[in-house]
Amino acid sequence: MTRFKVILLAAAFLSLVGTAATVPAQQQSLPQADAALYASEPQPLTLDQCGQCHPGHFRDIKQQGGKHQFDCRECHTTFHAYNPRKDNFAEIMPDCTQCHSPIHGDKHNQCLSCHSNPHAAIKAPTLAGVLNYCADCHTDQGMQLSAQPSKHTELSCDNCHHTEHGSIPFCSECHQPHFETQAFTGCASCHPVHQPLAIPFAIDNDLRTCSGCHNDIYPKWQQTISKHGQVGCTECHTEHKKIPECSSCHGIPPAHSKTMLDKFPRCLDCHLDAHDLPTKN
Ligand code: HEC
Ligand code: HEC
Ligand code: HEC
Ligand code: HEC
Ligand code: HEC
Ligand code: HEC
Ligand code: HEC
Ligand code: HEC
Ligand code: HEC
Ligand code: HEC
Ligand code: HEC
Ligand code: HEC
Repeated sequence: MTRFKVILLAAAFLSLVGTAATVPAQQQSLPQADAALYASEPQPLTLDQCGQCHPGHFRDIKQQGGKHQFDCRECHTTFHAYNPRKDNFAEIMPDCTQCHSPIHGDKHNQCLSCHSNPHAAIKAPTLAGVLNYCADCHTDQGMQLSAQPSKHTELSCDNCHHTEHGSIPFCSECHQPHFETQAFTGCASCHPVHQPLAIPFAIDNDLRTCSGCHNDIYPKWQQTISKHGQVGCTECHTEHKKIPECSSCHGIPPAHSKTMLDKFPRCLDCHLDAHDLPTKN
C-alpha cells in the first residue's frame, strides 16, 4: 500500500467518526395507537403453532405417532398451567385411561414405564422394559412351552427373542439342518418352535430328513425293489416313533388262511422287513 492511500483512508475514517459525533441524537418515535389491531378476537392456537414452539413433540408425532396423530389438545385438555410452586406437573398431564382401557390387564397399568414417549406411540417398548413379563401378555406361547416340555422350555424367551421386542429368531442361529441342503424355512413344519417335540408328520414332509438320523433304514428303503419303496416313511409312520399295523392298510389278505395266521401271528414272521420286503422277482 502506498503512503498516499494510507493518508486518504485515515482521513475518511476521521471524517466518519466526526460526523457521528456532531449530529444531535435522534428522537425515538413513540408507538401509535391502532384500534384495527384489536378489531379481532384472539383465535385458539393452531396445531401448527404448537409445533412452532414444540418442534420436538410435533416431529415425534409426525414420525412415530401412529394413531395418535390427532390434535395435541385431545390429550392436553389443560396445558401451560404448570406451576413449580404447586408442583402440579403430573396433575395436568394427560392420563392414558382418558381413552384406553387397561389393555394388558390390571397388572400393567403404569403405561409410561413401557411406552416411554406418548408422542411416539408406535415406537415399540424396549426389550429390557418388558423382559420379565413376556408370558403375562403372551399366554399362548408360555402355555405351549410348559404343556410339552422340551429343551426350549429351559430357555428364557429372550434367549431367542433377543434383539428387540417382537423380533423373531432364525433356527439357523443355533442349529444345523438334518441333511446338508435342507432349507431352514421348513423346520417349523415339524417343530412348532414353542413345542419342538410335538412333531406332526405330514405326508409331504421331505423324507431326506429321516436319513439324517436313520441312516440305515433310509438307504435300504430307497433301494428296495418291493412296493413299499413307493410308500413314504410318513405314510406308515404317521407320528414319530409310531409303528403302524400292517392291517391298517392291508386288512387280512384273502390268500392268508386263518390257520396260517394263527400259527404265525406276526406278519413280519414271513414278510421279514417292512422296509425291504422279500419279493419273488
Ligand atoms: C396421546 C396423547 C398426547 C398427545 C396427542 C400429545 N401429548 Fe404431549 N404429552 C402427553 C403425555 C401423557 C405427557 C406426559 C409425559 C410424561 O409425564 O412424561 C405429555 C407431555 C408433554 C409435554 C411436557 C413434557 C415433555 O415431554 O416435554 C409437552 C411440552 C407436550 N406434551 C407437548 C405436546 C404437543 C405440542 C403435542 C401436539 C403436537 C402433544 N403434546 C400431543 C400426551 C400427549
Ligand atoms: C409461543 C410458544 C408456544 C406455543 C405456541 C405453545 N407452547 Fe406449549 N409451552 C411453551 C413453553 C415456553 C413452555 C414451557 C417450557 C417447556 O415445557 O417447553 C410450554 C409448555 C407446554 C407444556 C408443558 C407444561 C404445561 O404447563 O402444560 C405443554 C403440555 C404444552 N406446552 C403444550 C402446548 C400445546 C398443546 C400447544 C398448542 C395448543 C402449545 N403448547 C403451544 C411455549 C409454547
Ligand atoms: C385422547 C385419547 C387418547 C389418549 C389420552 C391416549 N391415547 Fe393411545 N390411542 C388413542 C386412539 C384413538 C388410538 C387408536 C385406537 C386404538 O388402538 O385403541 C390409540 C392408540 C395407541 C397405541 C397404538 C398406536 C398405533 O398406532 O398402533 C398405543 C401404543 C397407545 N395408544 C398408547 C397410549 C399411551 C401409553 C397413552 C398414555 C400416555 C395413550 N395412548 C393415551 C387415543 C388416546
Ligand atoms: C410392561 C410393559 C407395558 C406396559 C406397562 C404397557 N404396555 Fe402397552 N404395549 C406393550 C408392548 C410390548 C406392546 C406391543 C408393542 C408392539 O406391537 O410392538 C404394547 C402395545 C400397546 C398398544 C397397541 C395394541 C396392539 O394390539 O398393537 C396399546 C394401545 C397399548 N399398548 C396401550 C397401553 C396402555 C394404555 C397401557 C397402560 C394402561 C400400557 N399399554 C401399558 C407393553 C406395555
Ligand atoms: C404388556 C404386554 C406385552 C409384554 C410384557 C410383551 N409383549 Fe410381546 N407383544 C405384545 C403385543 C400387544 C404385541 C403385538 C400384537 C401381537 O402380535 O400379539 C406383541 C408382539 C410380540 C411379538 C411379535 C408377534 C408377531 O406375530 O410377529 C413377539 C415375538 C413378542 N411380542 C415377544 C415378546 C417377548 C419375548 C416378550 C418378553 C421379552 C414380550 N413379547 C413381552 C405385548 C407384550
Ligand atoms: C427356542 C427359541 C424360542 C424361545 C425359547 C421362545 N420363542 Fe417365541 N418364537 C420363536 C420363533 C422361531 C418364532 C417364530 C415362529 C414361526 O414363525 O413359526 C416365535 C414366535 C413367537 C411369537 C409370535 C406368535 C407365534 O406364536 O408365532 C410370540 C408372541 C412369541 N414367540 C413369544 C414367546 C414367548 C412369550 C416366549 C417365552 C415364554 C418365547 N416366545 C420363547 C422362538 C422362540
Ligand atoms: C437362540 C438359540 C435357539 C434358537 C433360535 C432355536 N433353538 Fe432349538 N434349541 C436350542 C437349544 C440350546 C436346545 C438344546 C440343545 C441341546 O441340549 O443340545 C434346542 C433344542 C431343540 C430341539 C430338541 C428339543 C429337545 O427337547 O430335545 C429341537 C427339535 C429344536 N431345538 C428345534 C428348533 C427349531 C426348529 C428352531 C427354529 C424354529 C429352533 N430350534 C430355534 C436353541 C435354539
Ligand atoms: C420331517 C420332519 C422334520 C423336519 C422338517 C425337521 N425336523 Fe428336526 N427332527 C425331526 C425328528 C423326527 C427329530 C427327532 C425327535 C426325537 O428324537 O424325538 C428331530 C430332531 C431335531 C433336533 C434335536 C435332535 C438333534 O439332532 O439335535 C433338532 C435340533 C432339530 N430337529 C432341528 C431341526 C432343524 C433346524 C430343522 C430345519 C432345518 C428341522 N429340525 C427340520 C423331524 C424334522
Ligand atoms: C434328529 C434325529 C431324528 C430324525 C431326523 C428322525 N428320527 Fe426317528 N428316531 C430318532 C430317535 C433318537 C429315535 C429313538 C431310537 C430308539 O429308541 O432307539 C427314533 C425312533 C423312530 C421310530 C421308532 C423306533 C422304534 O424302535 O420304535 C420310528 C418309526 C422313526 N424314528 C421314524 C422316523 C421317520 C419316519 C423320520 C423322518 C420323517 C424320522 N424318524 C426322523 C431320531 C430321529
Ligand atoms: C410300509 C410301511 C412302512 C414304511 C414305508 C416305512 N416304515 Fe419304518 N417301520 C414300519 C414297520 C411296520 C416297522 C416295525 C418293524 C418291526 O416291528 O420290526 C417299522 C420300523 C421302523 C423303525 C424302527 C425299527 C427299526 O427297524 O429300526 C424305524 C426307525 C423306521 N421304521 C423308520 C422308517 C423310515 C426312516 C422310513 C422311510 C425311509 C420308513 N420307516 C418307512 C413300516 C414302515
Ligand atoms: C400305509 C399303508 C401300508 C402299511 C401300513 C403296510 N403296507 Fe404293505 N403295501 C402298501 C402298499 C400301498 C403296497 C403296494 C400295493 C400294490 O401296489 O398293490 C403294499 C404292498 C405290500 C406287499 C406286496 C409287496 C410287493 O412288492 O409286491 C406286501 C407283502 C406287503 N405290502 C406287506 C405288508 C406288511 C407285512 C406290512 C406290515 C409290516 C405292511 N405291508 C404295511 C401299503 C402299506
Ligand atoms: C406264514 C407266512 C405269512 C404270514 C404270517 C403272512 N404272510 Fe402275507 N404272504 C405270504 C406269502 C407266501 C405271500 C405270497 C408271496 C408272494 O406272492 O410274493 C404273501 C403275500 C402277501 C401280500 C401280497 C399279496 C396279496 O395277497 O395281497 C400281502 C399284502 C400280504 N401278504 C400281507 C400280509 C399281512 C398284512 C400279514 C399279517 C396279517 C401277512 N401277510 C402275513 C406269507 C405270509
